[in-house]
Amino acid sequence: MLNGKQIVLGVTGGIAVYKAVELVRLLTKAGADVHVIMTRSATEFVGPLTFQTLTANPVHTEIFNLIAEREIGHIALADRADLFIIAPATANVIGKIAGGIADDMLTTTVMATRASVLIAPAMNVNMCTNPIYRENEEKLRRHGYRFVAPVKGMLACGWEGEGKLQDPAIIMEEAVCALTRQDLVGERVLVTAGPTLEEIDPVRFISNHSSGKMGYSIARAARRRGAEVVLVAGPTCLDDPWGIETVHVCSAAEMRDAVMERVAASTVIVKAAAVADYCPKSRAAGKIKKSADAMVLELEKNPDILAEVGRVKGDRVLVGFAAETSDLVENARKKLTGKNLDLVVANDIGQPGAGFNVDTNIAKLLHRDGRVEELPLMGKDEMATIILDRAAGLRKQGMRGEE
Ligand code: PMT
Repeated sequence: MLNGKQIVLGVTGGIAVYKAVELVRLLTKAGADVHVIMTRSATEFVGPLTFQTLTANPVHTEIFNLIAEREIGHIALADRADLFIIAPATANVIGKIAGGIADDMLTTTVMATRASVLIAPAMNVNMCTNPIYRENEEKLRRHGYRFVAPVKGMLACGWEGEGKLQDPAIIMEEAVCALTRQDLVGERVLVTAGPTLEEIDPVRFISNHSSGKMGYSIARAARRRGAEVVLVAGPTCLDDPWGIETVHVCSAAEMRDAVMERVAASTVIVKAAAVADYCPKSRAAGKIKKSADAMVLELEKNPDILAEVGRVKGDRVLVGFAAETSDLVENARKKLTGKNLDLVVANDIGQPGAGFNVDTNIAKLLHRDGRVEELPLMGKDEMATIILDRAAGLRKQGMRGEE
């Protein structure tokens, strides 16, 4: 995800320094080359050796260290950064940067960098709400510095409130956003994911093996590219993705209502959910008791949400999925034309590594002009990026058509 990216991480003095260790682990695991600068007070909480061991790079602590300056000076460090993160960032360091003070290795390097700067503050609640701190933060935001707001909770100083360093996984997500091309800014992307669940009685239901992974990957990828995203999700075991409005539904009927309410406000709609085609004609109020040897369950058709969206889609880009075990292209093409779609992602779910409940997928993309693109086995995150590339291209084409 961050393969080959150069990240300079500034660590300042506060109890949350130990969480910066976890952040470094996440960044390096994602392929980033991390260079740590610690302020003198940060070294009081965690030794530089911890960061040096995890990053396999020397840790910078002193501006006037002659050897370190000769090997890689603060300007070289500032220049090599694709992204500069400061986590945890104290009120002191934020105040210094806002005031243009550059009196140590960290503040000098951050002042000299042309990379995006992402600041994750951590401090006492009263410092956090202090109008001087607020002004400093606002000033830096105006200058394009990005912030990952601290969260509320029990603080190390004994106070309760806003000021805890955000979860390292969320700082990491914001770092990925900061490093992603923002080509979907202004787009409002509606994604469906997961299975639907059709109740037979209070105990039993009809559903399918969809884990939601494909749809969640698309939603996350769209947000990273700057889109506003709404995710309508059937029951899954996945955590709500950070920064995305997630609407939880159960049945196809509920999913239909949640989607139709939001179509008008969307510019791109991607329907990755595995919606049950049928549901029980009636739901028994009590548990159905075992009696005869056989039992017949009467089913009725669920609304076809994709087809309904296709009828009202206007100039929105509409992407459907198809999960097939035979005649993949023929069946997917019928969906493309029959439901008025712009693109179909056809999964051959019979192939190992494709379709339901795995981290990878194999698909064919069917375009309206008859083109069929083969997507070999790849991670669902990677496939999500390609699907969004095509959707972004279709949006651009549509906009050119309007001119
Ligand atoms: O969730 P994962 O474990 O990651 O698995 C991913 C996936 C295999 C579920 C996904 O990639 C996928 O293929 N989703 C569509 C599965 C499906 O229901 O296919 P379908 O051929 O039955 O439906 C075609 C399209 O119509 C889909 O976009 C579906 O969302 C939509 N549909 C179907 C029925 C219905 N009543 N309403 C719909 O909107």
